[in-house]
Amino acid sequence: MEKIILRELTIEDEQAFFQGLKEWANEELSWYTFDWKPGVSFAELLTILENTKNGINLPINYVPGTMLYGFTDNQTIVGRVSIRHKLTDFLLKRGGHIGYSVAPRFRQKGYASEMMAQSILYCKKIGIEKLLITCASDNIPSWRIIEKNGGILENEIYDEVDKEMIKRYWIDLQ
Ligand SMILES: CC(C)(COP(=O)(O)OP(=O)(O)OC[C@H]1O[C@@H](n2cnc3c(N)ncnc32)[C@H](O)[C@@H]1OP(=O)(O)O)[C@@H](O)C(=O)NCCC(=O)NCCS
Repeated sequence: MEKIILRELTIEDEQAFFQGLKEWANEELSWYTFDWKPGVSFAELLTILENTKNGINLPINYVPGTMLYGFTDNQTIVGRVSIRHKLTDFLLKRGGHIGYSVAPRFRQKGYASEMMAQSILYCKKIGIEKLLITCASDNIPSWRIIEKNGGILENEIYDEVDKEMIKRYWIDLQ
């Protein structure tokens, strides 16, 4: 596994971002970006991401959030982590503070585990005291990553929206 730096996008990352987008051509786009769509410029995307981080122009019931991308040394994006700064009733049940993904070509190399470890440090830095991470019970890599990073299982519940069992884990950051 190459070394990974998990960080926010900057204006310098336009090429890396659009190169990374190609990895998701046959996948659900939200696993890479919530905010970019055809017609949105990179500069506009950065503005949206900055606003979301600062709680500006959020859709109703949304909380401030940071999108971090995992970069290799040669500025290739392997995946991303979305960090919700606070929990809502919805996120408390399903979603939690952190959502993450690694592009198919880069999976099973330990990147998601490393990105999760760096996300936890970010969450601590922004003052989250108890971190909630949820995943589908049948998503084996996902719950392995959470458990490897110290997640303590609170329970497994049935999610009416996606009609599946989910596991809910906490990590104490105090
Ligand atoms: C889940 C996901 C992020 C894992 O990314 P990854 O970079 O392949 O994960 P890692 O390489 O760090 O592997 C994590 C663990 O899962 C295991 N693993 C990875 N893929 C696996 C698979 N298909 N089946 C079983 N175990 C698997 C790894 O062996 C590793 O376990 P170990 O550390 O005990 O050896 C990636 O598959 C993904 O983006 N999936 C789609 C989005 C998603 O489900 N996100 C999670 C939402 S909660």
